[in-house]
Amino acid sequence: MTVVTTDVELAAATLSEGGLVAFPTETVYGLGADAANGVAVARVFEAKGRPTGHPLIVHLADGDQLGVWAELDSDGRQQVKALAEAFWPGPLTVIVPRSGRAAAETVGGRDTIGLRVPDHPLTLALLRMFGGGVAGPSANRFGGVSPTTAAHVMNDLDGLIEVVLDGGPATVGVESTIVELVSGRRPVLLRPGGIAVAQLSAVLGVEVDDGRSGLSRAPGMLASHYAPAAAVSVVEASDVAGLEPDPLVGVIAPYLVDHEPSWHLPSDAAGYGRALYASLRAADTAGVERLLVVPPPDGDLLDAVLDRLAKASAPRLG
Ligand code: TXA
Ligand code: MG
Repeated sequence: MTVVTTDVELAAATLSEGGLVAFPTETVYGLGADAANGVAVARVFEAKGRPTGHPLIVHLADGDQLGVWAELDSDGRQQVKALAEAFWPGPLTVIVPRSGRAAAETVGGRDTIGLRVPDHPLTLALLRMFGGGVAGPSANRFGGVSPTTAAHVMNDLDGLIEVVLDGGPATVGVESTIVELVSGRRPVLLRPGGIAVAQLSAVLGVEVDDGRSGLSRAPGMLASHYAPAAAVSVVEASDVAGLEPDPLVGVIAPYLVDHEPSWHLPSDAAGYGRALYASLRAADTAGVERLLVVPPPDGDLLDAVLDRLAKASAPRLG
């Protein structure tokens, strides 16, 4: 049975016993396990239906624990410290060379590790009480839409995990920015998110390469991802203007649309991003088969929103 609760003590005890705890963050809910416990982490992959070998982000209570999980030279330490001071707690994940602390299952056999301090009071309290690192992918079934509420998590994982820590709806709503720092090379953006590339470059004092073209190194960068059951097409406003009535065709747009069913999202990308995943899930609940999505015109989170829409509309894996 899965317990939905705000009881941080129960959640911390569950992690210590090798159990699975879904936890709120400002981006999306994570599916947490003790990052040093390979057996517990293996259960995360099972619950998600995620192929093993995909590395997980390890969530920490604060930047002081970096040295426990990362193996940094002085340049690397300086770069990561600057990013941590500027953006943690917050929607930024750094990929850095790892220490031996994490279980092999957590890092998918890699010699690097993804680290992040999430910005949510309940989860920061959980991380402090637990004391270790919490390995956590988004708390959805593999390939599906990330959860932004406890109810979304229950929809996907009820009965498969022990606890959902309910911290209310996510305030950012799309996953963290991921930047890879390898010594002697320019930093590489692996996934756009709540922190813009320009902000990273400004803090690091060097340009950040866009690692999204060419060979993808983060499995989450593979084509189809973040996708609802409905087939998604990204369209322009003119494409939905004269739409025939059809209950099997849904519309998501940054303005009011004269069509049933449709979901009206805020026009700035940050507001749109906050509401996007809930509307993709709502479209599935409504039984929509085709979903036409008009992107937001501009705003701080535009890059991240366009990235997720491209993945939601990409050819399906199979
Ligand atoms: O906002 C977020 O980042 C959320 C919350 C829960 O923190 N987490 C999240 O996790 O989105 P997940 O597993 O759904 O996506 C993390 C991505 C994956 O594409 C994974 O392959 C990549 O980060 N990643 C993690 N560790 C990595 C590593 N060592 N090297 C390369 N990519 C890595
Ligand atoms: Mg995910």
